[in-house]
Amino acid sequence: MAPSNSQTLPTIDQNNLAAQVASLQQQLSKMQQMASLGELVGTTTHEFNNYLMTIINYAKLGMRQTDQAARDRAFQKIFDAGQKAAQVTSVILGSARNRSDQLEPTDLKVVIEQAMVLLEREMRKYQIGVQLNLGSVPKALACGNQIQQVLINLLVNARQAIGSGGQITLTLVEDKASGTIDIRVLDDGPGMSNAVLTKIFEPQYSTKSGPDESGKGGSGFGLYNCRQIIETHHGKIRVESSVGKGTCFIIKLQNADKVKVPAIQSKTASKAAPVIAANETSNGCSAQKTV
Ligand SMILES: Nc1ncnc2c1ncn2[C@@H]1O[C@H](COP(=O)(O)OP(=O)(O)O)[C@@H](O)[C@H]1O
Ligand SMILES: [Mg+2]
Repeated sequence: MAPSNSQTLPTIDQNNLAAQVASLQQQLSKMQQMASLGELVGTTTHEFNNYLMTIINYAKLGMRQTDQAARDRAFQKIFDAGQKAAQVTSVILGSARNRSDQLEPTDLKVVIEQAMVLLEREMRKYQIGVQLNLGSVPKALACGNQIQQVLINLLVNARQAIGSGGQITLTLVEDKASGTIDIRVLDDGPGMSNAVLTKIFEPQYSTKSGPDESGKGGSGFGLYNCRQIIETHHGKIRVESSVGKGTCFIIKLQNADKVKVPAIQSKTASKAAPVIAANETSNGCSAQKTV
């Protein structure tokens, strides 16, 4: 008797396949982390170099002066730039020391302020005003380094979308109704069409032609990476956008006070789809609709 089709087909070991997919996902996630680290190194090297230049230039200026008051002013500038440079290195060293992926009660205000230390010069260079509305909120259950990475991704995207002279508003609030601590990143850039909005969380989706002069963007992995991180936090990432008005990304993280057992990072976290809203009338963070 001729063998049936089912007998001739190679058998697929589903367990093995699932294990391979999980391992590839883990490798991809590590590669994304390395790529983000590369961007971060670029950002901080520029930032640090800028402060060094200030120090060198004011030292030269001070050395040429015989007038004590002018020398004092130069010393003050050197001191200020030195302190800024020390802040940059302390944030980076802090991130490098804490490599844990563990979720723990985290003060998101500190995480936001540290992200701003790293992006301060970049925002100034592109003449972007950054307004911080950081309310006093309970700690969130989070990995500070990873949330800092998400914030940097969102802030750089906003900066690239706005171009020169725009405004970014960063808000930290407690959403008592949902029991979450929320970070909102609102920009007054060009916004996104529906067609773009539905694709932004896909890997390798980018409307940019490549990295900009600071070496950032164009890989299409930024928001995909953000989504992965927020999923492992059992949180949510939402976006609202109005063409011609701006975009608002909202990150919702668990309030550490409301979670009894601290959750450890898990790749099997429930995958809540990001919420996407195209809003033609509001300027960002008001109404939302799920697509
Ligand atoms: N704040 C924003 N305003 C307008 N468009 C945005 C914004 N953030 C992201 N986008 C769009 O989403 C796309 C995907 O973003 P991302 O995953 O970070 O990749 P990349 O920055 O490498 O293009 C961008 O190419 C851009 O079209
Ligand atoms: Mg990006």
